[in-house]
Amino acid sequence: MTFPVLEGKVAIITGAAMGMGEATTRLFADAKAKVVIADFNEEKGKEVVESIKANGGEAAFVKVDVSNSEQVQAMVKFAVDTYGKLDVAVNNAALTPDDKPAAEFDEDYWDRLMSVDLKGAALCMKYELQQMKAQGHGGSIINISSVSGYRPQPNNIAYVAAKHGVVGITKVAALENGPENIRVNSVAPGAIDTPMLRGALEQFGLNEEEYAPQLSLLNRFGQAEEIAQATLWLASDASSYVTGTTIHADAGYTSR
Ligand SMILES: NC(=O)c1ccc[n+]([C@@H]2O[C@H](COP(=O)([O-])OP(=O)(O)OC[C@H]3O[C@@H](n4cnc5c(N)ncnc54)[C@H](O)[C@@H]3O)[C@@H](O)[C@H]2O)c1
Repeated sequence: MTFPVLEGKVAIITGAAMGMGEATTRLFADAKAKVVIADFNEEKGKEVVESIKANGGEAAFVKVDVSNSEQVQAMVKFAVDTYGKLDVAVNNAALTPDDKPAAEFDEDYWDRLMSVDLKGAALCMKYELQQMKAQGHGGSIINISSVSGYRPQPNNIAYVAAKHGVVGITKVAALENGPENIRVNSVAPGAIDTPMLRGALEQFGLNEEEYAPQLSLLNRFGQAEEIAQATLWLASDASSYVTGTTIHADAGYTSR
C-alpha cells in the first residue's frame, strides 16, 4: 500500500529505465508524483512511461547522458516545461563498478565512471538546485550513493572513490541550501538485486546463497522496491527535518 505522499509534486529520477531507478519511479508515481524518467536508454525508459500511464500515473521520458552538462540542463528544463516546476530529484544513474585491483586499474574506465557517477550527480544537482532556488519553495534532492561510499571493496577503486565523492557532495549541497529549505540527502544501498548486481555476480562467478551472507545481516540481497521506500521517505515532507545525511539501506552491512 502506498500513501499519496507526493501528491502535487514533480520529480526527476535519473537512471530510471531499469533497476532501482525504475522501481523508485514506479513507487513515486503510485505516491501521486508526476515523474520524469531521465535515462540514456530511450527504449526501456519509454516502456516504463507507458506502463506507469497504463496504471493511471503521470510520467514523461527525457533522454539524457548525465555526464553531459547541456543535456542535464535540458533535462531540468524538460521537467519544468512539461509539469511546470521541480520539487524532487533522485540522482541515481551510474555505471557498473570497475573490476581490477588498484595496482592495475583501467584509467579510461576511471574517467568514464567518474564522469557519470560523480560529476554526473554533481551536474544534476547544479541544475536542479538552480531551478529549486529560482522557484523559492524548497525541494528535496536524493543522491544514490552505496555501501561503497563508506566501505572499501576490492577491485572497485573508481566506484569506491566516486561513491565516497557522492557522500561528500551531498553534504556540501545540504550545507549551502538548507536556508532555502532545499534538503539534500543520500541513500546508500547494500547489495540489491538489479541488472547491475547480476552483472557483477556473473563477472566474479558468485551466487546469492554464498555471497549474500557476507553483505547482509538478513542473508539475502535487497529488492529495488525496498530501496525505493527509503528514497520515497526522503522525497516526501515526512522527512522535513532531515538533511545532509545518508540512509543506510544495506541490511546492516555497514553496522559491523
Ligand atoms: N545494485 C546494487 O547492488 C547497488 C548497490 C549500491 C548502490 N547502487 C547504486 O544504485 C544506483 C542504481 O543502480 P542499479 O543497480 O539500479 O543500476 P542499473 O545498472 O540496473 O541501472 C542504471 C540505470 O542508469 C542508466 N544510466 C547509466 N549511465 C547513464 C548516463 N550516463 N546517463 C543517463 N542514464 C544512465 C542506465 O541506462 C540504467 O537505466 C546506482 O547509483 C548504483 O551505483 C547499486
